[in-house]
Amino acid sequence: MSFEPPPALCQQIDALVARYPQKRSAVLMVLHALQEHYGHLTLEALEWTARRLDMEPIHVDELVTFYPMFRQEPVGRLHLKICRTLSCALAGSHRLHRRLCEKLGLDPDHRGPQTTPDGAVTVEFVECLATCDAAPVALANDRFLEKADWPTLETLITQARDAASGQSQPPSHPIPSSHSRGGSEC
Ligand code: FES
Repeated sequence: MSFEPPPALCQQIDALVARYPQKRSAVLMVLHALQEHYGHLTLEALEWTARRLDMEPIHVDELVTFYPMFRQEPVGRLHLKICRTLSCALAGSHRLHRRLCEKLGLDPDHRGPQTTPDGAVTVEFVECLATCDAAPVALANDRFLEKADWPTLETLITQARDAASGQSQPPSHPIPSSHSRGGSEC
């Protein structure tokens, strides 16, 4: 069956496209809207975007593979990205990542995204998140965790697992505000 977003999402995308003099200029916004709705971007979604914006599919694919904020695989309810670059490494991010993986039964030597079998948590070890002055930095879904510490991560994991097992609703903004800062554009 061919990919077609639901009418409400199509309306949202139409409104985004209308903001730009050229359709293709809306491509990042359209991809964000699709990812927010579906959780990740499938090949079908990329092809649909290309058709909608009169672009070549390869050009949409290049954007999705270049910007790390886009996902092409499903992720857990909580997607934790831990920065592994110098400032954060010096501030303990590698220890934090290892401890996180060991607690979740994931491979601490793996760099790409790994998801727990219950689908609750995805952990990814990533390059600089551009908030180096607040090392170690993590991104929990779309929210920054500055000076990320183990108790904060542990709380988030517990919330995500409880939500995944139906014990509670998923927190819409699970990050303590004292350690958070707005999400970034890709
Ligand atoms: S080195 Fe971690 S945010 Fe830049």
